[in-house]
Amino acid sequence: MTLIEKFYPVMKPWLFRLDAEKAHTLTVKLMIVAHRLGMLQSVVSKPRQPRTVMGLTFPNVLGLGAGMDKSASAVDAWGALGFGFVEVGTLTPRPQPGNPQPRLFRLPEHEALINRMGFNNPGIHSAVEKLQRRRTKSIVGVNIGKNFDTPNEKAVDDYLACLKAAYLVADYIAVNISSPNTKGLRDLQAEDAVRQLISALKNEQAALKKEHGKSTPLLVKIAPDLNDMQIEALARVFNEQSIDGVIATNTTIDREAVAGHALARETGGLSGAPVRERSNLVLQAFRMLLKDATPIIGVGGIMDGAGAAEKLKLGASLVQIYSGLVYRGPALAREVLEQTI
Ligand SMILES: Cc1cc2nc3c(=O)[nH]c(=O)nc-3n(C[C@H](O)[C@H](O)[C@H](O)COP(=O)(O)O)c2cc1C
Repeated sequence: MTLIEKFYPVMKPWLFRLDAEKAHTLTVKLMIVAHRLGMLQSVVSKPRQPRTVMGLTFPNVLGLGAGMDKSASAVDAWGALGFGFVEVGTLTPRPQPGNPQPRLFRLPEHEALINRMGFNNPGIHSAVEKLQRRRTKSIVGVNIGKNFDTPNEKAVDDYLACLKAAYLVADYIAVNISSPNTKGLRDLQAEDAVRQLISALKNEQAALKKEHGKSTPLLVKIAPDLNDMQIEALARVFNEQSIDGVIATNTTIDREAVAGHALARETGGLSGAPVRERSNLVLQAFRMLLKDATPIIGVGGIMDGAGAAEKLKLGASLVQIYSGLVYRGPALAREVLEQTI
């Protein structure tokens, strides 16, 4: 067990006494410092089988979910800790402060979080500059969205601007149309809207590939709150547009699993243990409907190694964690890596 794995259980009670967002900001800062001081040890004990997915060689299957490092300020530290890939963002064309605080809540009884951050981020150009200076060999995905004040009719322009800005520094681009905290964003999952968006982005991707001779895969991140008809419609568009990959899933707006909890009525997306089952159903449905060659990144409710192995069994090629890291710390990363060889 590495020092940081031993350290987290000691730190956790202190961190959990702080406001959730303050604890998050502090943890990321501590990680950056620990990394600069050469104190961050990888939880990877043995060399792992790398996986080639979408033409990219991932050092291992474990990724950090979007939202943990919105500004791309700690990618080297996450890589040093052992993550095979890190998805930064969501980033929007212009910087924005996000929703008023408090906007992140813990529900420890359910190993869950509720957040309504609202894409607080320093803007795509700031993240691109940081990524140009990165040293990590881990794969870095850039998750992109639209500014809160961009109307849905103009959303395509925001995504195109982010795609163009991040195309060269990103190993892959994740198109986020599934955050519940930006008004109207999930409406972009409707069949006609998603077709228009993906076709514009795929055209731009082809043009950028021609111009730069580099191919950057384009993935779409979807919500767990989709009914069968919506899932079929999305899969139809993804197959028709030859999307390079799907990320399933984002947080849920459903509160059934946490009904009765004092914080259950807080607006936002619920993540952690309560989203696992629904995320897995959506992952399974897309695996059945998507072309065989289209990879899926499984995310949502991975709280132990078995949870990660389950997603791979259901058809995911790679996995990501977020809430589980808050509750379990770096020990979860090791467990996932040990149980997904
Ligand atoms: C505080 C917080 C912020 C998040 N921000 C983003 C984001 O900016 N973009 C995004 O695509 N997903 C975001 N997510 C969703 C996660 O990447 C992940 O899809 C979701 O939390 C389910 O995984 P988990 O149960 O392992 O947390 C966020 C999640 C949390 C808890």
